Amino acid sequence: MKKNYFAVILLSLGFWSTAVFAQSRSEWLLEKNWKFTRTDEPEFTNVKYNDSKWQNVIVPHDWAIYGPFSANNDKQHVAISQDGQKEASEHAGRTGGLPFVGVGWYRNKFRVPGFNKGKKASIIFDGAMSNATVYLNGKKVGFWPYGYNTFHFDITEFLEPGEENILAVRLENFPESSRWYPGAGLYRNVHVVMTETAHIPVWGTQLTTPVIHKEFAKVNLKTKVITGAGNVAGFHLTTEIKDADGKVVASTKTLLNKYNEDTFNQELLVLNPQLWDTEHPVLYTAVSKLYEENELRDEYSTTFGIRSIEIIPNKGFFLNGKRTQFKGVCLHHDLGPLGAAVNDAAIRRQIRIMKDMGVNAIRTSHNMPAPEFVKACDEMGMMLMAETFDEWKAPKQKNGYHKYFEEWAEKDVVNLIHHYRNNPSVVMWCIGNEVPEQGMLGAAKTAKFLQDICFREDPTRFVTQGMDQPGSVINNNFAATMQVAGFNYRPFVYPEAYKKLPQQIILGTETASTISSRGIYKFPVIRRAMPIYEDLQVSSYDVEHCGWSDLPEDNFIQHDDLPYAIGEFVWTGFDYLGEPTPYYTNWPSHSSLFGIVDLAGIPKDRYYLYRSHWNTAANTLHILPSWNFRDRAGQTTPVFVYTNYPTAELFINGKSQGKKTKDTTFTVYNTGDKKSLEDFDRQKRYRLMWMDTKYKPGAVKVVAYDAKGNAVEEKEIHTAGKPHHLELKADRTQLTANGKDLSFVLVSVVDKDGNLCSEDTREISFKATGAGKFHAVANGNSASLESFQAPKMKAFSGQLTAIVKSEEKQGVVYFEASAKGLKSTVLKIEVK
Ligand code: GAL
Repeated sequence: MKKNYFAVILLSLGFWSTAVFAQSRSEWLLEKNWKFTRTDEPEFTNVKYNDSKWQNVIVPHDWAIYGPFSANNDKQHVAISQDGQKEASEHAGRTGGLPFVGVGWYRNKFRVPGFNKGKKASIIFDGAMSNATVYLNGKKVGFWPYGYNTFHFDITEFLEPGEENILAVRLENFPESSRWYPGAGLYRNVHVVMTETAHIPVWGTQLTTPVIHKEFAKVNLKTKVITGAGNVAGFHLTTEIKDADGKVVASTKTLLNKYNEDTFNQELLVLNPQLWDTEHPVLYTAVSKLYEENELRDEYSTTFGIRSIEIIPNKGFFLNGKRTQFKGVCLHHDLGPLGAAVNDAAIRRQIRIMKDMGVNAIRTSHNMPAPEFVKACDEMGMMLMAETFDEWKAPKQKNGYHKYFEEWAEKDVVNLIHHYRNNPSVVMWCIGNEVPEQGMLGAAKTAKFLQDICFREDPTRFVTQGMDQPGSVINNNFAATMQVAGFNYRPFVYPEAYKKLPQQIILGTETASTISSRGIYKFPVIRRAMPIYEDLQVSSYDVEHCGWSDLPEDNFIQHDDLPYAIGEFVWTGFDYLGEPTPYYTNWPSHSSLFGIVDLAGIPKDRYYLYRSHWNTAANTLHILPSWNFRDRAGQTTPVFVYTNYPTAELFINGKSQGKKTKDTTFTVYNTGDKKSLEDFDRQKRYRLMWMDTKYKPGAVKVVAYDAKGNAVEEKEIHTAGKPHHLELKADRTQLTANGKDLSFVLVSVVDKDGNLCSEDTREISFKATGAGKFHAVANGNSASLESFQAPKMKAFSGQLTAIVKSEEKQGVVYFEASAKGLKSTVLKIEVK
């Protein structure tokens, strides 16, 4: 339902922000003119209710991200049994310490131009957090409990032709309903679609590419149609397939007859197809037109890609016939300082950063992604594992999804699959995460029930789930039931699982859970599980993890050495709000330390370790730690180098510390015992480590050598001098004048020569003038209670990210960052 229409911005009418019209179908995005309250009265559904005193908001809107943070917002007195906790304790910040619990109401007045008898209309919520009850013109339209899923209602009989319609939505989030920050409110888009009576319903097409050869690809398109006539005679459907340039490359016309009832079945041939993959994400569009006799009744577009996916036992996963390891990350849905409120620019930035690290797949843990996210993955070349649930019937949380499972699970799975089964980026469905059922008798039946729904609704994709109880699931048929056996952590059980399971391949659905704080280094540098420090941070030497988890290399080595291991999804690509493990009870810690990139979107050192291993198209040469210690002169301060080169020589203040070469004699077979883990044997295969170097302020230089022994690249870092000015670097310096485009500006405190003052924590203030405004800020400090929306924040390890938002007018934004004692800096961003 996307292309081929002309978009009109109807600002002047004040009803709709964006409207898309075809001759026969109109679509509006309901973004503006929303009223919002946190109070709760039955009369809010009433058409005559006066909501003028409510807050004006724009949707997508996350009511909780504005804070303020408080331990009392979401206190949980629980024992997290998955984390091995036996006794309940007071968990603060587990869901982010933000006020998402409770009720919120939204109201919107809108007209549907052209709506009259003989038209049909639907409302689509891309996601509403949560327990949404929707009222239109005083009448209840429907209810959808799961906050992450897209749902839609037929509103034909509720709309008033030619009149103003009053939409009211009540949302309610219960306490102890989540293990992370869920967000709150209408945090994703709301659409209204109007069609003729005869129309193609929401998600009415299913497109597959059953045969793909170099010379041609067969495209099968099944299009559902609601004729409203009780008689299917006289309807026909024409479909044109257009390539990325809009050129028609195939077309067909099909008559509906009594044998195919409400579904057109079309076969098309695309000659010399351009395949979709992660490097060349080529998209096609099938444009279908529904005619009754010669009258056009509906027009519907299906965007798709031509690509094959295959799993061959013992060999791996193949994309277009090429063995492809999953170099994946798990991502929660929040966008750091923007909360859960969907924003296209923020999503695309996340994917860009992940792609530069070498990531080729994202697991949308543990729930359904936003359509903007899937679209961006289609367009940018990122494979997706789209997930459903963190709970089935057995509870993890007092008010978790188990309450809805019996009644809603099938509907939720069906909606996810119907929504995204034409998107080439989606290669796998994930039906659950660490469900407590794993060890329960008969639970394999529930796994089969959910997996069968996936097979029924989409026979072309793989189905997995993340299991963390290998002891049970390998022996009780639970893992054997799954098409793809996915394990969370415990890579050391892969060989046993492989021996016992029929699938002959293993996927690391969730791995590593290494923890680190950007720019913070702890000494001595030893491997630690669940470390606790007074400053509520953990070490950026990438040697710390949880009780159940491990380090990046403990997983690299499995997927490199075991042919049946098909790759991994690291927990997590970005830090997220909530789950400040290991600081379960240590308020103000309230966001995760798992991220390879911090909450502000700034890469931690670990980013370069993954990049050196995963991004085979670029060179990586990264030195850590930062060389700015006030009190370590003369003390042992190891230096690590993350690089794709096999060898490097290290110099401190010009003095060689020797050459190191990656030690490939360490394999999955001769490592993994206690001593080898303590000695960092596996790390020696993937990082270069000088463990005994002494700190002395000055310069650290590394010279990298290729496999032939040629010096090929060098890098130098310096102890910073006195903080001198602020350096600003925007991810994008040209924005669209749509009132929602974002530029993420990395702000660094640097000395006069531009060296990062990585210990600086001074407060930085912001001001934007012109065609954009200051929108939000984050510094990646998981224990900071500063507001994301105030135009000032303390630097963390010398840096933070400020976000500038475009206005709906063209021009220039002048964005200024200033701080006491420093020269301020102005950055110019164009808005077009
Ligand atoms: C896993 C779980 C994730 C997250 C992670 C932290 O067990 O699936 O949601 O909690 O642990 O290590």
